[in-house]
Amino acid sequence: MRFVTITSGKGGVGKSTLAANISYLLSIYGYKTAIFDADVGLANQDIIFNVKPQNTILDVLKGDANFEDIVVQLNNNLYLIPGESGEEIFQYKNSDILEKFFAGVEKFNDFDFLIIDTGAGIGEYVQSFIKAATDTIVVTIPDPSAIMDAYSMIKYTLKVKSEIYLVVNRTKSAKEAHEIFVKLESVAKKHIDSNAHLEFLGYVEKSNLIEEASKRREIVVQSYASSIPAIEIANIVKKLTNSLTKDGEHIKETPNIAIFFKRLLQQI
Ligand SMILES: Nc1ncnc2c1ncn2[C@@H]1O[C@H](COP(=O)(O)OP(=O)(O)O)[C@@H](O)[C@H]1O
Ligand SMILES: [Mg+2]
Repeated sequence: MRFVTITSGKGGVGKSTLAANISYLLSIYGYKTAIFDADVGLANQDIIFNVKPQNTILDVLKGDANFEDIVVQLNNNLYLIPGESGEEIFQYKNSDILEKFFAGVEKFNDFDFLIIDTGAGIGEYVQSFIKAATDTIVVTIPDPSAIMDAYSMIKYTLKVKSEIYLVVNRTKSAKEAHEIFVKLESVAKKHIDSNAHLEFLGYVEKSNLIEEASKRREIVVQSYASSIPAIEIANIVKKLTNSLTKDGEHIKETPNIAIFFKRLLQQI
C-alpha cells in the first residue's frame, strides 16, 4: 500500500484540490483509495466532495465513534476519512482507545492508496505525516515566494525522506513548470544534499475550469474529464502509479493502513 502525503511550503497552492482529483482518478482506475483530510487548520475535503460527515477521526480517538462509522464512501473505490484538526489527533496517542481505533482501521487494510491532504508549512505534525508516509508530494506555484517556501519544505523533508515528488500547480506552461523543477533540484543538490532525489511528478496549468468545478462542489477530473487540467492531473496519477514497484521497500515497511496509523500516532 502507498501512503502519499501532499504538502507545500505555502498555503493556497492547490494541495486539497490536487489531493481530491488524484484520489478520484486513482479510484476510477481501480485502485482502492482513501483520502485522509489532515490539514491542521482547514480540513475541507468534505466541502470539495460535497458531503457532510457527522464525525471525524478525532471522535474515534476520543472514543465517541467507531472508525468504520466515520469513513464516508464516495464511490465504489473511494473513501473519505474526515479530519478536523490534524494536530489534535496526536494528543490521543497514549489513550487506551487507540487499540480499538487500530482494530477499526484494520478493516480497511485492503486499500491500495491513502492520500493525505496536510496543511502548509513546516511543523512537527506535518513532519509526522511525512515520516509515516511512503511518498511525499510537495506542491508549489510559480510565485517566487511559494518557490522559496517549497525549497524550505524540501530541505526539511530531506531530513526524513530521501525522495520527494514535486508538482507545479497554476503554471502558465509546461516549460515554466519544468524550469521551476530544474531550479529547485539544482539548488537542493547544491545546498542540501548532493544525493537528494527530487522527481518531477508533473504540473497543472492555471485554469478557470478548476475554479468553476470547485464553485459547483465538483472536481475537474470528473466534470471536465477531457479538459487540459484533467489530462495534466491524469498524467500525474499515471506517473505516481508507474512508480509502484520502485518503492517496494517502503511498501514492505508499511504494508497496510493500520500500520500506517500506528506509525503515525506512536511514531514506530
Ligand atoms: N490549477 C489551478 N488553476 C486555478 N485555480 C486553482 C488551481 N488549483 C487550485 N486552484 C484554486 O485555488 C484555491 C486554493 O486551492 P486549495 O486546493 O484549497 O489549496 P491548498 O489546499 O493548498 O490551501 C481553490 O479555490 C482552488 O479551486
Ligand atoms: Mg487545503
